[in-house]
Amino acid sequence: MLVAAGRGERLGGDRPKAFAPLAGLPLLAEPLRRLDEEPLVDAIVVVCPPEWEEQSILVAEDLGASKVSSCVPGGESRSDSVRIGLAEVPEDAAVVLVHDAARPLLPEGVVQRLLDALLQGYDGAVPGLPVVDTMKRVVGDVVTETLPRAELVAVQTPQAFVAPVLRRALGATGEQTDCAAFVEAAGGRVTIVAGDERLLKVTGPADLARAAALLAAERGE
Ligand code: C5P
Repeated sequence: MLVAAGRGERLGGDRPKAFAPLAGLPLLAEPLRRLDEEPLVDAIVVVCPPEWEEQSILVAEDLGASKVSSCVPGGESRSDSVRIGLAEVPEDAAVVLVHDAARPLLPEGVVQRLLDALLQGYDGAVPGLPVVDTMKRVVGDVVTETLPRAELVAVQTPQAFVAPVLRRALGATGEQTDCAAFVEAAGGRVTIVAGDERLLKVTGPADLARAAALLAAERGE
């Protein structure tokens, strides 16, 4: 599943983030192409910005993305968008992968690492990177705690889950910033696999420029 329904207010512009231009194409195109070309992915549900369904389908058609099984408008929050997307995933799917369209560069090997972790018996697997800065909890303008950095990981997408486990976990109400948080809260076992700097999330204009530079470097431009 590719969640692309965010408004992207921090990016500015007159369109949802998934349609911000990256190397001449809507941002949505790059992650969609990479998921479509990933041999371990069978089908893709695209959760698109409301009122941008037709344009999203056009992006998929222009790419010749043959695995897109449905394109549905998302919800108010990321969690709601994932719930909406999950309803489109066939009941017999064994594994669901949830990826942010805001992370356009999906390096080879990440999906394999996630699926290997599920084969080891975990309910979920997420890519993560070590945290380099010291992390503190702040309430108002007062620091209340310094967190143990060695125990912290910065988590990315795609995230992979045993499908029935994710469905049950997302039956809970409320919002979380990633899917794994629902599975953890439901008592599921989630593990971390090696993440990748190239899985950066496009939030502001500088991230878009960084993603474009990484893409150009990959293409040898
Ligand atoms: O802004 P945020 O970090 O939550 O966005 C992460 C991903 O979730 C983005 O790819 C965005 O398009 C998606 N999202 C969504 N529906 C929302 C909010 C975010 O699909 N309502």
